[in-house]
Amino acid sequence: MQIKKGHFLEEKADVLIIFSPKIIKKQIPHELEEVNLRLNGCIKEIIQEEGYKGLANQTVFIRTHQALPVKRVLIVGLGEKEEITLETIRQACAAAYHEIKNWKVKHLVVQHLSDVFEEYSVDDISQVMTEGILLASYTFGKYKKIKDRFPDLITFVTAKGKNVRLSEKGIVQGQLAAQATMFARNLGNIPGQHLTPEDLMLVAKALAKGKKNIQLKVFNQEQLQKMGAGGILSVAQGSDHPPYLVHLIYKPTKKTKKKIALVGKALTFDSGGLSLKPSEAMKNMKIDMAGAAAVLGVFSVIDHLVPRCEVHGIFAACENMPSGKALRPGDIIQVMNKKTIEVLDTDAEGRLTLADALLYASKQKPDSIIDLATLTGACVVALGEEITGVMSNDAELVARLKEATEFSGEKIWELPLEKNYRKLLKSPIADYKNIAGRWGGALTAGLFLQEFVGKIPWAHLDIAGPSFAEKTIDPYTKQGATGHGVRTLLKLISK
Ligand code: BES
Ligand code: MN
Ligand code: ZN
Repeated sequence: MQIKKGHFLEEKADVLIIFSPKIIKKQIPHELEEVNLRLNGCIKEIIQEEGYKGLANQTVFIRTHQALPVKRVLIVGLGEKEEITLETIRQACAAAYHEIKNWKVKHLVVQHLSDVFEEYSVDDISQVMTEGILLASYTFGKYKKIKDRFPDLITFVTAKGKNVRLSEKGIVQGQLAAQATMFARNLGNIPGQHLTPEDLMLVAKALAKGKKNIQLKVFNQEQLQKMGAGGILSVAQGSDHPPYLVHLIYKPTKKTKKKIALVGKALTFDSGGLSLKPSEAMKNMKIDMAGAAAVLGVFSVIDHLVPRCEVHGIFAACENMPSGKALRPGDIIQVMNKKTIEVLDTDAEGRLTLADALLYASKQKPDSIIDLATLTGACVVALGEEITGVMSNDAELVARLKEATEFSGEKIWELPLEKNYRKLLKSPIADYKNIAGRWGGALTAGLFLQEFVGKIPWAHLDIAGPSFAEKTIDPYTKQGATGHGVRTLLKLISK
């Protein structure tokens, strides 16, 4: 991927991608006037005869028959001009990729949208264009051959020479963000059979290997016993695969005081345990490590991103299985701060493993903690499959997260940590119970986690909905693991 100064209509390539806003009253928009002239009124025809309306992600292609140096032009709609955002651009580029992925395209030229939009910075536009194309091209080919093609070379063309340097920066950021997201998608798509807690720990090990500024600490079952991490141990005890607590540390070269901890839920498979899930609810539960996958995605590019803060990535890799050794409903466990929990439902396991992971994270004395967890079906009921629920004890952290999502396009919505609901987590015979009745399940889960972060500024992201797409949701997010959260975290830590 590269950027050059030039005029997009003068570039020699196999395909040229250009963009247009919504067509009003079948009039050629000024963005397409020049192409229309060069292609002998062709734009007029596609508008009047082929139904091209410039709707968001609508595409139409034109053969140029030597009227231009390119063989084909693909026009992509951006929709209503006033509604165009960075996300519109990301999706439009992704939609364009899907049109050409079956064509033989050696060299693709793309009109750089910074020439058209002044309201966004040049590097941001470059970044989202890059992300859109790369994320759209993601396929999970581990178990099946997939024939999509990708151009040998993609050139963005801008008329403004001064934009080139900034654009290059944006392209690199976009490549890193896409790479990290795809890293998380791959982990999420691998079935539980081939991604055990040990495998997930080994992924972290591979990421830290040979990198001076990334350290790794791993705690095995025996060490977890010494630490009193009964939340992790009890959830894992029904499985043949032992648990690991994994701690990655990124230290920037320049000294900093700021420290952030990213904690991911890491159930490589959640059967529900003895409170067994029905098969419909269990079939996608390989995704229950999506929180850890997002953290690992961040660490997969962190040394290229050079954030100025110290970043800790923490997850407790476990598998939740029923067996003769499994945790029983009614059992009382003890987590790292000695608090006891009556486990009334072994399917509310994420909060048990997270209790220990959050207690461990708190001991690192970070300035803030962000956890990402496929925690509750209730959050999916509340916000649907595309929106993450955020619960936090710190308004500023929420504001920062929201700002990051405005760029990343990942949607979050704040849910309350309602004090009055704390009583629902009280047990007559232990400090807490792990379920709180039928209503407000996302909130009571968040309240449960809050018990283990003390006063540290903390935000909990319930990603149960957006981490896995039952079916394709937009041109760059196809069915399967989405890598949701990665791009928001990258934006947050690079600020
Ligand atoms: N991993 C599930 C939550 C989940 C649901 C993730 C749908 C992704 C998609 C979690 O461990 C779970 O089973 N939660 C229970 C909690 C309940 C028992 C209090 C749930 O949501 O039903
Ligand atoms: Mn569960
Ligand atoms: Zn779970």
